[in-house]
Parts: sequence; C-alpha cells; structure tokens
Amino acid sequence: MHSGKRHDPVMSAEAVEGLRARAGGSFVDCTLGDGGHTAAILAASAPTGRVLALDADPEALNASEDRLAAFGRRVRMVRSNFARVACVAKTEGFAPAHGILFDLGLSSRQLDGAERGFSFQRPGPLDMRFGPDEERTAADLVNGLGEQELADLLWKYGEEPRSRRIARGIVAARPIADAARLADVVRRSAGYGRGRTHPATRTFQALRIAVNGELAALEAGLRGAADILADNGRLVTIAYHSLEDRMVKEFVRTDERLEAVNRKVIRPSAEEASRNRRSRSAKLRVAEKIHAR
Ligand SMILES: C[S@@+](CC[C@H](N)C(=O)[O-])C[C@H]1O[C@@H](n2cnc3c(N)ncnc32)[C@H](O)[C@@H]1O
Repeated sequence: MHSGKRHDPVMSAEAVEGLRARAGGSFVDCTLGDGGHTAAILAASAPTGRVLALDADPEALNASEDRLAAFGRRVRMVRSNFARVACVAKTEGFAPAHGILFDLGLSSRQLDGAERGFSFQRPGPLDMRFGPDEERTAADLVNGLGEQELADLLWKYGEEPRSRRIARGIVAARPIADAARLADVVRRSAGYGRGRTHPATRTFQALRIAVNGELAALEAGLRGAADILADNGRLVTIAYHSLEDRMVKEFVRTDERLEAVNRKVIRPSAEEASRNRRSRSAKLRVAEKIHAR
C-alpha cells in the first residue's frame, strides 16, 4: 500500500453539476484514482444512478474498493486505459452514458508513493508508469534516448525552454536510476533560480507524458467518450497543464457532435485553491453532445 494521503477530489461540486448527475443516470468516471469524484457522482445520483469507473493503475482500484463498497452494485470498477472507454462501456452496459468525466494526470497517492518515481522530492526508482501495461519506464527513456531525442521530448511534452541544456546535463550524468537524483541533475543543469516551481517540474511532466503515451490516450479517450455519450449527455474534463487543456478545447471545437457549455474554463475557488494545492492549476471544461441532426 502507498503511504500517501488520500487524494482530495478537485472541483467536485462543479464536476457533478457539469455532468448533471441525477437518479437513473449512467455515468463513466474515466479516472477513478482514490474514488473521490466517483463517490460524489454516486451520492448526487442516488438512489438509482450508476457509475462505471476506470483506472489504468491497479492500486487505484484497491484504494477505492472500501470507500465505494457502500454503494454496492451502483458502482462498477474496471482496470483499463481510458483510451478503450467506448469498448469497456459497451461491454459493461454503460453505453449510452449520460455523463463522462476525465480528471487527468496523477493522484496525490501516486505522487506521494516514492516507489513509483513520480515525485522529484522523493528518492525512488524512475518508473512513472500509471499501469503495468506500459512498456517503457522513465529510466528507460532517461538512460536510453540520444541527447537530441531527449531534448525534443522535454520541449514537446514539457514545454521546457531549457530543454537542450537539461538534456546535455542528463546525458553527462548517466546512468540515472533515482527520481531525486534526476531532479538534482536537472536543477543543476537548468540553472534556474529558486522560483516558486521546482526546476524539474517540466522535465518530470514530459517524462510522465511520454512513458504513458498520455496525449494519444487522451485523444482516443475523448473520441470514445463522444461516441458513447447519449444525446444531451455531458463531457466534463479537468486538466492540469496546457497541453492537455488545449487538446480538450480543440477536440470539442472540431468534433461536430460536441458543443462547449462554458465559454471560459472553470477554475477552483480561492478557498479550494488555498486548501488543496493540487487544484491550483486545474481547468474544468464542460461540453454537451448535441442531438444528432
Ligand atoms: C487525478 S487522478 C484522479 C483522482 C480522482 N478523480 C479522485 O477523486 O480520487 C488521475 C487518475 O487517472 C489515472 N489515469 C491517468 N491516465 C489514464 C489512462 N490513460 N487510462 C486510465 N487511467 C488513467 C491515474 O492512474 C490516476 O489514478
């Protein structure tokens, strides 16, 4: 078991409202995590609403089992990449769905569990896979890619302006097997001052995205969600960095079946942002499936 604290669901009330969770509805939570949003949807859709909850990480299912046990047969948990959401929802009897949620990225539990190597503040093996199905770990990329490939990866998935310097520093320090050591190498080679964010933030984001093929999974997941949404069904997404948020925005803009419900992204309240650090970068979007014409 992880030692990390339970993940505090971000903008839970806003997500439930965006989904229009209600009795009799069928909902899909594509990112179960610690089950906070799933529990909130189940509570709001009592006594007959149902939730299918997916996660690529077997630990997420273990962690949520007890928390969700009280909801009995109203909840179904499946370990799956959300790229396959349409197929799983059809198999499990959740298509068409009235609302589908994506709360992207990683949970506090994953970040806090040093053995996964997600955190640049904790020593731990450089793994970063959400689930055991991914072929390559972060260590494979850090130690196996050429300097130019590494720089391109940091630029593309981390939007890291100092990608070349960092890639050069990493290659010179290889082999690197530990997350805290990588963070240290990045900090020294990037030459950033002591700002509010750790100099390795973008590097860690880039590696995580590459290891898990996150952008391709999101694209496939959004397409699958649009396929199985009922007419007037709602798609709610919570993104934590601009690559994801842009992808969602662009997908909704170009997919003829979807219409944005809120023009501007929804941000956490000042109260939530001060209570839950993780929520600070969150951007929530709501889209609706428009009636097939
Ligand atoms: C931010 S957490 C979700 C937290 C959750 N909403 C809660 O209230 O506890 C994101 C979760 O999505 C999972 N995840 C990320 N990408 C995934 C993918 N492509 N397929 C399935 N699960 C994924 C991660 O393993 C993680 O548990």
